[in-house]
Amino acid sequence: MIDKILNKEKLNFSDIEFLLNLTDELEINKLLQRAYEIKEKYIGKKAYYRGLIEISNICDKNCYYCGIRKGANIKRYTIVEEEILEMAKWAYKNNYASITLQAGEITGASYTKKIANIIRKIKELSNGELGITLSLGEQSYETYKEWFLAGAHRYLLRIETSDKDLYKTLHPNDDLHSFDNRIKCLKSLKDVGYQVGTGVMVGLPNQTVKNLVNDILFFEKHDIDMLGMGPYVVANDTPTAKYVLENGLNGQKEINERFILALKFIATCRLYLKDVNIAASTAMEALAPKGRERALLSGANILMPVLTKQEYKKNYQLYDNKTTLFDETKEFIDPFKDKVEEIGEKVGFGEWGDSPHFNNRKK
Ligand code: 5AD
Ligand code: SF4
Repeated sequence: MIDKILNKEKLNFSDIEFLLNLTDELEINKLLQRAYEIKEKYIGKKAYYRGLIEISNICDKNCYYCGIRKGANIKRYTIVEEEILEMAKWAYKNNYASITLQAGEITGASYTKKIANIIRKIKELSNGELGITLSLGEQSYETYKEWFLAGAHRYLLRIETSDKDLYKTLHPNDDLHSFDNRIKCLKSLKDVGYQVGTGVMVGLPNQTVKNLVNDILFFEKHDIDMLGMGPYVVANDTPTAKYVLENGLNGQKEINERFILALKFIATCRLYLKDVNIAASTAMEALAPKGRERALLSGANILMPVLTKQEYKKNYQLYDNKTTLFDETKEFIDPFKDKVEEIGEKVGFGEWGDSPHFNNRKK
């Protein structure tokens, strides 16, 4: 059964469901290996870096699962432009080729201008060479356009879950947290011309395997270029965490299951979508040692080393994640090179590593 499904050109709903439901270790390994083969075929034995700069932890939203939500009692910071440019220059000098600017969600005319200026300056300091991905939440079509014209070319906006009812259980019920607006934003990003990334959290409370199958079909329907996915991780003092802990859903057994489900999910996305970029997210590392390498071996091809300095990073805890509470860039200029080579791959230094799916869809 499993071999037949793994060799199918196009999986259907029940095939995907079957793969996500696998429990036998040997069968799971078959799935992960097959996904790696597909990645090798479409992308090669290469992993690309996106240096992650978390420019501010100020957020107007109150997503129930997130550690930097508006209601969270944390120290807020915004990195000044000069220092952001310094980090971008560091990434450029070290041949990273691409960076990602991420922040909590804020909107407004002066914010739009400020970010556009930063994008332009990063382009200038790198002779136009540094690729810029943005992860700055829901904005208007005009703002997306202004940032695109300033030089950003990829945008990440996770749908978190494609199930509208589940989405509602994870967010306050108001206009600021509208599922429909998020879909509208994904469409705007595409219309503006970005390579568009989305993704979901895996193992959310009350999420079913059928929900996850629908997530994968959602990625297909929206012709997504890039995926960033990881397991749900408990974030201290948040409503979702409270629910999870009260219902005994965060024991070691549940954590391991969530991690394996995330690996199966990444692999199945690779199997089904084939030519998209898939990130081995930091959340993978939060639940299991070598989580990111294991994601690379299951079909992911993007790594996002955190360039944010330690003094800020400690206040950018979307979830409880002690393992990455060190400055990856301080210890090694190249935090993952050894790890990537250990599994027989190379880092695509100096290359943008655009999503082949994007190039194919432009043809
Ligand atoms: N666990 C896992 N991922 C989380 N994110 C936010 N909170 C959590 C959490 N507790 C993810 C969301 C968001 C991204 C920036 O971080 O998917 O889109
Ligand atoms: Fe803000 Fe994003 Fe966290 Fe929601 S997930 S509270 S938008 S930083």
